Amino acid sequence: MSSKGTGGAENVVLVTGGGAGIGAGICRVLAGRGVHVAVNDLDADAAERTAEEIGGTAVPGDVVTDGEAILAGTLAIAGRLDGLVNNAGVIRRAPLSDLPDRDPTLDVNLRAVAGLSARCLRSLSESNGAIVNIASMAADVPQLGGGLYAASKAGLVAYTRQAAVEWGPLGVRVNAIGPGMIRTAMAEAVYADPVLHEKRRTLVPVGRIGRPEDIGTVVAFLLSTDAAYVSGQHLLVDGGLTQTLMAHFPQPSDAAPSPPASADA
Ligand SMILES: NC(=O)c1ccc[n+]([C@@H]2O[C@H](COP(=O)([O-])OP(=O)(O)OC[C@H]3O[C@@H](n4cnc5c(N)ncnc54)[C@H](O)[C@@H]3O)[C@@H](O)[C@H]2O)c1
Repeated sequence: MSSKGTGGAENVVLVTGGGAGIGAGICRVLAGRGVHVAVNDLDADAAERTAEEIGGTAVPGDVVTDGEAILAGTLAIAGRLDGLVNNAGVIRRAPLSDLPDRDPTLDVNLRAVAGLSARCLRSLSESNGAIVNIASMAADVPQLGGGLYAASKAGLVAYTRQAAVEWGPLGVRVNAIGPGMIRTAMAEAVYADPVLHEKRRTLVPVGRIGRPEDIGTVVAFLLSTDAAYVSGQHLLVDGGLTQTLMAHFPQPSDAAPSPPASADA
């Protein structure tokens, strides 16, 4: 377990699923702003790699089953917790008519968030801390073929709103971020194909696929006192993608040109 003493000065933030992708981007941004990050991941080597890179502390474990140990490992750093970023998530692609019996989606994306957040509540209340849940634009827009993913993220947004109301009086703010299309291992099969990458890129008003750090900077804002009056929100960080629906409506100028009138008529 790599570790760096906090000297008592730094805030401590626990990031789940911090070994790769968006979680690692969040860890890098927070560490760059002087936060001591407790890097959780199911993949202990990945957690260790990120912790090593940013000078944080690895707290490996499965968010579904190891919440108590993950929190204990985090509190062992400096006896405090200032923020919790529930980022770990999975997608299991399947049509709704054909879901596997033991599907982990709701357990990882929703139930584990509720469990870990409740465990962290006392420490977060003591520090006037904040929680950021990584939801998805799929909470608002169905992800066809994504199995229970959209339902899990919609549930996570509803959970975020309820927790904000219940825990605001305890001094804990709770918000969610809905990433748009971010290039990570979760969707690498798409972005590794230059044709698919380009087709997706041109859909985004700001003109590019997102990077993990695009989410990290918004997490940093929501955890900071700059967001002291923000709670219960689901903030879409998608380069404007979800606002483009009407751009797909056919317009009169898109109609096929009518054939030229015959000169003989
Ligand atoms: N990539 C995107 O385009 C995108 C879009 C919207 C939302 N999201 C959400 O962002 C979050 C991160 O996604 P990503 O693209 O970085 O995924 P990723 O698969 O690249 O990384 C997820 C990390 O979480 C870890 N993890 C998985 N299950 C875990 C568990 N039970 N306990 C602890 N760690 C666990 C994995 O080992 C991995 O390191 C997820 O909640 C995802 O739903 C991603």
